[in-house]
Amino acid sequence: MSELLIQGATVVTADRMERADVLVRDGRIAAVGTGHGAARILDATGHWVMPGGIDTHTHLAHPIDRLGITTADDFYTGTLAGACGGVTTIVDFSLQRRGESLFEARDRRLAEIEPDAVIDYGFHAIVTDVRSDVLAEIPVMIEDGFPSFKVYMTYGDKIVDDGGLLRMLEATAAHGGLVYAHCENDCAVNHLIARHLESGRTGPAYHAPSRPPAVEAEATHRAIMLAGLAGAPLCIAHVTSGGAARHVADARERGEPIVSETCPQYLVLDDSVYDPDAGFEVAKFVCSPPMRASQHRDALWRALAAGSIQQVSSDHAPFRYHDQKTAGRDNFTRIPNGLPGIETRLPLVFAGGVKTGRLSPERFVELTATNPARIFGLHPRKGTLDVGADADLIVVDPDAEVEIDAARLHSAVDYSPYQGMKVAGFPTWTISRGEVIVERGEPAAGRGRGRLAPRGVIDPGMLP
Ligand code: URP
Ligand code: ZN
Ligand code: ZN
Repeated sequence: MSELLIQGATVVTADRMERADVLVRDGRIAAVGTGHGAARILDATGHWVMPGGIDTHTHLAHPIDRLGITTADDFYTGTLAGACGGVTTIVDFSLQRRGESLFEARDRRLAEIEPDAVIDYGFHAIVTDVRSDVLAEIPVMIEDGFPSFKVYMTYGDKIVDDGGLLRMLEATAAHGGLVYAHCENDCAVNHLIARHLESGRTGPAYHAPSRPPAVEAEATHRAIMLAGLAGAPLCIAHVTSGGAARHVADARERGEPIVSETCPQYLVLDDSVYDPDAGFEVAKFVCSPPMRASQHRDALWRALAAGSIQQVSSDHAPFRYHDQKTAGRDNFTRIPNGLPGIETRLPLVFAGGVKTGRLSPERFVELTATNPARIFGLHPRKGTLDVGADADLIVVDPDAEVEIDAARLHSAVDYSPYQGMKVAGFPTWTISRGEVIVERGEPAAGRGRGRLAPRGVIDPGMLP
């Protein structure tokens, strides 16, 4: 029997904040209260203890076939970085290439993750080829604990058209699954890209005007309408604009089972990062959708507080600046899309949300742990601090300020979009199934200790 007592802290969950000790036994939460003893005691006086972060949008060892590259973090460096940033579970992706089955893609991914992951994991199945034999795999995938399916409404080699999306929505809804959609209007994006390139506007700053807010809002609205036609729940990935957030809010007001996420980059950065005079450095901020004008950022914070956006994930898609982002030096469309962020997600939301008073501590936990678990079938085993749940915890000094410096982060990427920003909320201790895997801010975790997290079917009536 292994025991750990976290003593002297304030417990923060999605629905309460109270002074209590947390007793962990054999990897699970055994008691929350006072008067317990244990073989190992962590003195957490002055700290908050919260459910570990759940990041349901990461791209580790993710192949970008059109560029012949892979994201810079593998499952070891990426999950280690996550642990140091307070993440105890990720939900990454398996990629079905055209012609493949979902099972082949799933088995390949499991073999890649198992030897390396430091924290627990699951993955969404990216579906790129909506054949009838693929639709027939969906109930089996759900039954086997893979209930979420990513669909891209843009991106040449991954795009699924409206008919394919509709079939996916019907097939998943029939069996307790959930479509997770990247929403941008592909025709409009391609048209705008062509206009820029034809006029010689090839630099990285033209990435953003090729994917303006209307492109996202239109596709978000279309996906929501198709979900309505299919009677299906739907999760909208990375909402970046006020217009897209409004479509989600409207659907929810109509009682439709629509949930959504945003990411820290859209909450703390804005489109001033795309300065045409800043040269190729702008490539560090090329992601899709891109960052928006500051009024959108403000709208997203309001949507988080009001409840119309239900979770914050990182969309961690790291590419090294010096030898990967440079693929697009002469043509912004060849810059790999994505930003690193698994390690900085919780501190950025903690600093920008809790420390500024925009979010309550309880709402912070809900957005970063409890709701991701509810949406993607991990609840109640993960994302809560209830007796019986996995002892996946973070212990945070809410007043410890840290200046973000890429050199001190653990991702295998060579920059941070947040270099120099002052944040709070980095964990002093990260605990995964009762094991201390980050000790006073330093990693103490073994490669391959992470496990596949069991996920259940998704009940649209239980979505947050
Ligand atoms: O630019 C981004 N977000 N890249 C990652 C792939 C995606 O769109 O989810
Ligand atoms: Zn996406
Ligand atoms: Zn993504």
